[in-house]
Amino acid sequence: MDNESRIRGLIRPDIWDIDPYAAVEPVERLAARVGVPVEQVIKLDANENPYGCSPEVQRALASFSRYHIYPDPLCSEMQEILQRYTGAAADRILIGSGSDEIIDILMRLFLRPGDKVIVCPPTFGYYQSSAAFCAAELVRVPRQGDYGIDVDGVVQAVDGATKLIFIASPNNPTGNTIGEHELRVMLETGVAVVVDEAYAEFSGKTVLPLTDEHDNLIVLRTFSKWAGLAGLRFGYGILPMVLVQQAIKMKPPYNVNLAAQIAVKASLEDIENLIDRVNTIRGERERLYNGLKELDYLLPHPSEANFILCRVVRGGLGRVRQALEGRGIFVRYYSDPLLDGCLRISVGTPDQNAVVLERLREIGSALTDE
Ligand SMILES: Cc1ncc(COP(=O)(O)O)c(C=O)c1O
Repeated sequence: MDNESRIRGLIRPDIWDIDPYAAVEPVERLAARVGVPVEQVIKLDANENPYGCSPEVQRALASFSRYHIYPDPLCSEMQEILQRYTGAAADRILIGSGSDEIIDILMRLFLRPGDKVIVCPPTFGYYQSSAAFCAAELVRVPRQGDYGIDVDGVVQAVDGATKLIFIASPNNPTGNTIGEHELRVMLETGVAVVVDEAYAEFSGKTVLPLTDEHDNLIVLRTFSKWAGLAGLRFGYGILPMVLVQQAIKMKPPYNVNLAAQIAVKASLEDIENLIDRVNTIRGERERLYNGLKELDYLLPHPSEANFILCRVVRGGLGRVRQALEGRGIFVRYYSDPLLDGCLRISVGTPDQNAVVLERLREIGSALTDE
């Protein structure tokens, strides 16, 4: 037996079958791939905040002098700060290195091999990867024609092995939110329902108040999108206190780095500025949507988040991709058959959105001339 087969035989055999999560490429690699200078790249592929983080974050990070000391493993100060931001009690807040980590912790907390987790595709791909790491069974209940949740389908899919239902609201990549009635029906099943509100600040909607009534409702949030801290990694979950206490046992001791904690504190001290930017992005979302709607080869889907899903109904996705990338414009493309012919455009600055629309109009004219 050669060395690779021997070492391969030591790890879990099921890991070989997991498809890696399709994360976005770093901007330098994108630029090099299409031969465009990095400064000219318009990166609208990861729902990042086009304005960056608050300037207060940069000041706070530069003036901090205790990076050589481990952070508080319980993140108590962060819990209190987030209690003020969310209104949820501090001891119900679990903090992680991005909401990705909270997703992972929850999967490990609830799922033994063979247990089931329900997702409603098309949705955020990391739920599938994270469930696979636990050797859990992923039950897919596809969304309906308008991307609404098939609530009856979800309820029917629940059985004795089902532990978790994951719903993103607004959903990535479709941009729509869950209605309160639909959520209540799912909560009635008694299974833990995780509502991932990574984009809640862009929709102005949250199901957080329902956590007071339902101890099987968990809400996830992040600072990656609205606060522009994707690169620093800070997310949190709001869950019953007993679950926070158990979850803490399962996380690495110092999972949330000090820079992220300082950045979150500074962001919340500059919240008015950040919310102004969120409002600008919301306005730009409408402008971009209206511009996309005018193009007869694209079918944009209304969105309550900071991105817009679009189906290419004429001309072919490959052609659109080639034309956009040739100009250094990067958006997200999908391999999921439910999203065949779709791309997702993150809302950029007014200038970026204008360039994207102009380029898409040019592509449209070329199609018409043929
Ligand atoms: C629905 C959803 N949840 C969670 C995440 C992960 O966010 P974070 O950067 O906090 O790990 C994303 C990121 O794109 C997302 O779209």
